[in-house]
Amino acid sequence: MSGNGTQIPMTARKSGPLRGTADVPGDKSISHRALILGALSVGETTISGLLEGQDVLATAAAMSAFGAEVSQSGPGAWQIHGVGVGGFGEPERVIDCGNSGTGVRLIMGAMATTPITATFTGDRSLNGRPMGRITEPLGLFGTQSFGRSDGRLPLTVIGATDPASIIYTTPMPSAQVKSALLLAGLNARGQTIITENAATRDHTERMLQGFGATVETSQTKNGNVIALQGQPELTAQNIAVPRDPSSAAFPLCAALITEGSDILVPNIGLNPTRAGLFATLQDMGAALTFENPREEAGEPVADMRARFSALQGVEVPPDRAPSMIDEYPILAVVAAFAEGQTVMRGIKELRVKESDRIDAMARGLETCGVTVEEDEDWLIVHGMGAGGVPGGGTCKTFFDHRIAMAFLCLGLAAKKAVSIDDGSAIDTSFPVFENLMRGLGAEITRNNR
Ligand code: S3P
Repeated sequence: MSGNGTQIPMTARKSGPLRGTADVPGDKSISHRALILGALSVGETTISGLLEGQDVLATAAAMSAFGAEVSQSGPGAWQIHGVGVGGFGEPERVIDCGNSGTGVRLIMGAMATTPITATFTGDRSLNGRPMGRITEPLGLFGTQSFGRSDGRLPLTVIGATDPASIIYTTPMPSAQVKSALLLAGLNARGQTIITENAATRDHTERMLQGFGATVETSQTKNGNVIALQGQPELTAQNIAVPRDPSSAAFPLCAALITEGSDILVPNIGLNPTRAGLFATLQDMGAALTFENPREEAGEPVADMRARFSALQGVEVPPDRAPSMIDEYPILAVVAAFAEGQTVMRGIKELRVKESDRIDAMARGLETCGVTVEEDEDWLIVHGMGAGGVPGGGTCKTFFDHRIAMAFLCLGLAAKKAVSIDDGSAIDTSFPVFENLMRGLGAEITRNNR
């Protein structure tokens, strides 16, 4: 798993125009959820377009460890014979979720109200991330957990024996926390009610409804209140996973900053709880357009076109952060090529992602000759204009896929080549990144070749 293996140093060089069509892989968030809900339903769920990155493959392996029958019939085509709500069996071995915070947190929720015991671990990055945000509210269901200091992995969860539903307000904007509690609420008596002050991605709610659960969201002055009726029977579904907007962000942003570029990225999921980056890029003056808007698998999708653009720095509205939380690394790169400052506030959650992303972006941008200012929950990038970024450094990636891809994109448009110390984590979410980018004309190489 990434983070424990061999490092892959890589380099990106100033590239000619990026041109063509980029087929990015399936959505990571939706892929995890399709496997987990498939495993909790009755009958055979079929999935097409599943992301076959390490994170999602770890979740597939976990579902089979809990007793679901999981098989693959072709690229992206998977079948899961579920065990039904409350039907998980006790795994015989430790569940290794690799690099995936989403995987481990959602799976902990999914097993927390079934009377079985499971031990979870991950790679170096995941084992350093906070799990108390999940295990504390799971305790309200009667679930017990024993981890390392600060609730970190490896961690053992003992599922509740006779769980009753809970009422809980999430203390931070987190779809993982919300989703873990909804999944736990599935096997609890009564109605589980979760309030979130800021709207986060709602794939769990949409998919639960698709599988036949009764889940209702009401918008109140305190935020979204999500009510789930416990102990439903979930019915197997056929799920077509839309392509991942968070992965699409890399080729799209690379095209915006690389002179002469014009690319198309078809079939991108445009759920409003995920689309904040695209609004921000348009605010910056990006030539970014949505073609053929339509709906697929209960999610809005469109084909996206990006052309090289003269960009202006902006102040990103802090309340937009939850809808673009994974996109700040690539936005920080785009901001380096804009005229003027880009101010990103309300982003302290970035400190507990696969790496401390505020620190990783600040240090890497400085290495490439870009001036930044930062504090606990904000980052300001002083843009140098199109073609103005010096580059020429080696950026540390801290086993973080999005940091790695962001700095490779920066290298395509900087004056001097940019290297990264390790691109191995890219496989966790976007295994075809290198080939896809090269297909568009990007000069990205592995240093040891
Ligand atoms: C995710 C939620 C977000 C996001 C992560 C995927 C999900 O994490 O950063 O990449 O699929 O629910 P948080 O819940 O920690 O904000």
